[in-house]
Amino acid sequence: MAQTRATGHERIETNNFLMIVLILLTAAVGGIVEIVPLYFQRSTTQPIAGLKPYDAVQLAGRDIYIREGCYNCHSQMIRTLRSETLRYGPYSVAGEFVYDHPFQWGSKRTGPDLARVGGKYSDDWHRLHLRNPRDLVPESNMPAYAWLDDATIEPASMAPRLKALRAVGVPYSDDEIAKAGDAVKGKTEMEALIAYLQVLGTARK
Ligand code: HEC
Repeated sequence: MAQTRATGHERIETNNFLMIVLILLTAAVGGIVEIVPLYFQRSTTQPIAGLKPYDAVQLAGRDIYIREGCYNCHSQMIRTLRSETLRYGPYSVAGEFVYDHPFQWGSKRTGPDLARVGGKYSDDWHRLHLRNPRDLVPESNMPAYAWLDDATIEPASMAPRLKALRAVGVPYSDDEIAKAGDAVKGKTEMEALIAYLQVLGTARK
């Protein structure tokens, strides 16, 4: 039987190599069109009014948050949905996170979103909750972090952390870097973590 000549479409669909190359090209163009403009837009690259870099204690707390894997159960991004803004407050905007390296947005919500938990509870509430969540929320399945009371922040570790963040654009002054160690002297990991939680989302409230 006479074979009709393969059309362009048929040639692509029957040639693995050509198919792979063209799929990659299509995805690459789509990605570039979506992502590249974000690097040049004020709304995604500039801090919102009132946003301050984390102070040394808050920054130490943030590192504990990351070390303990809190992000495995908690997101820090309020979506633009009514159910979310009613529960958590104003939705998150990119300019709130320009000093977060790396950001803690996440999508896993075993526990509630924490993007605006700052100021929602007292420091004492957080301390009791972190020591044993079930003392305050009987049905909670959040792990206890009581040992954070026993460990203190290592002052000498702070200046390099601030310096590293300055290298990626966080505007720490030489003075802030020089005083970072003193600022955390004697602070427990518990105190630092709570200081971090209490500032979350407060620049846009
Ligand atoms: C295994 C999952 C899990 C992990 C890991 C986890 N949490 Fe939770 N968290 C929860 C759940 C579930 C709740 C809701 C019940 C409660 O309040 O205890 C919660 C609630 C909270 C709340 C109260 C939020 C609100 O708006 O009421 C805070 C604050 C909190 N977690 C902080 C942390 C921090 C800090 C860490 C890491 C040190 C952490 N969580 C780790 C599951 C988790």
